[in-house]
Amino acid sequence: MDTKLLKPTQESIQLACDILRKGEVVAIPTETVYGLFGDATNPDACANIFKAKERPRDNPFIVHISDYEMLGDVAKDIPEDAIKLAEAFWPGPLTIILNKTDKIPYAATAGLETVGIRMPSNPVVLEIISKTRLPLAGPSANRSGRPSPTDAQTVYNDMTGRIPLVLDGGECNIGVESTVVSLAGPQPILFRPGFITKAQMEDVLHKEVLLSKGITEELAKDEKALSPGLKHKHYAPKAEVIIINAEFEKYKQLVESENATALCFDEYVDRLNVKSVSYGKESDSATQAVKLFHALRQLDEIGAGKVYAMMPSTEGVGLAVYNRLLRAAAFRVVNL
Ligand code: TXA
Ligand code: MG
Repeated sequence: MDTKLLKPTQESIQLACDILRKGEVVAIPTETVYGLFGDATNPDACANIFKAKERPRDNPFIVHISDYEMLGDVAKDIPEDAIKLAEAFWPGPLTIILNKTDKIPYAATAGLETVGIRMPSNPVVLEIISKTRLPLAGPSANRSGRPSPTDAQTVYNDMTGRIPLVLDGGECNIGVESTVVSLAGPQPILFRPGFITKAQMEDVLHKEVLLSKGITEELAKDEKALSPGLKHKHYAPKAEVIIINAEFEKYKQLVESENATALCFDEYVDRLNVKSVSYGKESDSATQAVKLFHALRQLDEIGAGKVYAMMPSTEGVGLAVYNRLLRAAAFRVVNL
């Protein structure tokens, strides 16, 4: 298959809509990461996404909508809390898990009765959803297991020959995937940390949002994940990554003594006598979120073998950064 890489114009957006109506797959930018989109109401389209991504069949898709009428089409038993969160954070980087309607096939939810729903704010993807009037299934546009792509060229490299079209909307401004919160049970539970924080949701809901197991520690082999994504291998570069929780001087001594590669904050690049890749400013979790996935791919490009990563803050957006880095490091953390 020939893969086109086009800037979003009236013509290329029209082409994207036509491809989606045929049940095929298009990579489209969102404010978080690039997504691999297909008609969520069409099981064949869902199968095409699974195939292009080589995604494990038990991992469900997030369904993307452009307005509240569509919300009523895809979800039922919608609680008051869902409306509160949607009004506060949509369009934006928040996915809410609710009970699904019959319009959404099990092919999209991997057999679950629930569906994750998000109204993205990127104007390109919003326009395509509202033009087609199709709720779009959209996992991140990487091949399964790889870091999520935050620019079109990376998507193109992963997906060339697999899908007909990649729309190039430039760099994603958030850089980590949406926050995923479940409102399908008796209490709100955070399944995946993201740019919208637990504290921000608690402020809106005036109640506690629980943290799912698997976010900051590894699930045991036989332990059941509340969200399938929590048990899958993720974000892994080819290098062996280990997170080091230590003062800078101790960190420096370790990386330099082993001549490892440093995955560090911008401020330290010049102070380390080893190869390094930086992932944002030390005190600014939002810049770390923007740069982390790109940094993980860069480690592969420079052929890094062993990588020592500086420990990020775990507060606010930092929890999203730490969660992704922890998975890239296969949960290896060393405290010095
Ligand atoms: O920012 C994002 O969310 C991006 C952009 C493209 O919108 N999409 C994305 O999709 O990250 P994906 O498929 O890579 O991650 C979806 C996560 C997975 O961890 C999946 O297990 C979880 O959401 N998920 C989806 N539906 C679920 C459900 N019904 N119950 C529990 N977890 C669910
Ligand atoms: Mg993903």
